[in-house]
Amino acid sequence: MSKLNKTAINLDTSAREQLVALLNQRVGLFTDLYVQTKLAHWNVRGPHFIAYHELFDSIAAHLLTAQDSMAERAATLGGSAGMTVQDIAKDTTLAAWPIKTRQDHDVIRILEERLGQAGNYIREDIDTAAKLGDADTADLFTEVSRELDHDLWFVEAHLQD
Ligand SMILES: [Fe+2]
Repeated sequence: MSKLNKTAINLDTSAREQLVALLNQRVGLFTDLYVQTKLAHWNVRGPHFIAYHELFDSIAAHLLTAQDSMAERAATLGGSAGMTVQDIAKDTTLAAWPIKTRQDHDVIRILEERLGQAGNYIREDIDTAAKLGDADTADLFTEVSRELDHDLWFVEAHLQD
């Protein structure tokens, strides 16, 4: 028996189960990435402090919006939405944020790496959702991916010649 709620959405149950699991995994990933970005926001020091402090907060806000959209898509498909902090800690594929690293150029390079990693996962998810017959979730992942890439550009522009 499926754990999903009934819905009039005509995607088959197996596809909905896989989509809900994938969406919730990314909700967990973005929760981790949000906290990491706030740790960067709070702890960064150096000549670029104010630019980076403000940039990291705007990225964190975008991550929360994406997290909420993905959780609500999981709910829309009939699933339980989100993950507990305890499950996120077991499931996340991001390395822990090095909380003692404060120098601005080090902090921004680590954040670049984390945002890039998450963006590359979401790009794969676009295809996975499309193969499961769900153009709407593929579109949501596309939107999330595009915004993450845009934020990555803002980060990488500080590192390019
Ligand atoms: Fe703040």
